[in-house]
Amino acid sequence: MRIIECPDYASMSRRAAAMIAAQVLLKPDCVLGLATGSTPVGAYRELVKWNREGLVSFKEARSVNLDEYLGLAPEHEQSYRRFMQENLFDHIDIVPENTHVLNGLAADPDAECAAYDAMTAALGGIDLQLLGMGHNGHIAFNEPGDDFGLGTHVVTLSERTIDANRRFFASRDEVPRRALSMGIRSIMLARRILIIVSGEDKAEALAKAVSGPVTNEVPASVLQLHPDVTLVADSAALSALKGGRAE
Ligand code: GLP
Repeated sequence: MRIIECPDYASMSRRAAAMIAAQVLLKPDCVLGLATGSTPVGAYRELVKWNREGLVSFKEARSVNLDEYLGLAPEHEQSYRRFMQENLFDHIDIVPENTHVLNGLAADPDAECAAYDAMTAALGGIDLQLLGMGHNGHIAFNEPGDDFGLGTHVVTLSERTIDANRRFFASRDEVPRRALSMGIRSIMLARRILIIVSGEDKAEALAKAVSGPVTNEVPASVLQLHPDVTLVADSAALSALKGGRAE
């Protein structure tokens, strides 16, 4: 794992955006695995800016997103489809049909998950997968204890994740309890992985993920087994790793 330490959130975002832009410049029709959450917002903002300035074009790029809440329509204010439209897709030159997000209203969620894996494979697989990380070390919606061998599947969110995401909803009761999520297997199939982490509140989980044992109790720890992972994090997020960092 390559670790890039940045002084703050803004520089972390620029570094991450630069890696995504470089991927698109090297392979214009690449498949980008994209993430939601507050962490990638700054990187998406940089990409929008560079796209407007003509530095990078997404005209040929394809995208697949990690996850979606089960039961939320694409237009719902808190759906991840809407998040992607508002934070990235509506502001860059990507072709709408080339953006893929799981359908939270699928009549048969298991079939939706299987079709999503087949679609991703048919695109040629993911060239670069962007990830954030939850406070309990979750990636996408793979919660502690989830099986590493799963492809895209239906997940039940942990109480901690419901609490963390509650801030986006009017009340805790409105936070969906289930989601559709790429599994660890789907993520590990990506050729390259870029994980971005910001803030001291994630420091403990990040230290466990990077230099603790590989265990499904800390889902992000599986990344230690992937041959091409770059972690871009701010100093606060890396603070619990100091002295004991494993590269
Ligand atoms: C959600 C998403 C994850 C994301 C995590 C952390 O649970 N499913 O993909 O990494 O939140 O979000 P944040 O970046 O807001 O801390």
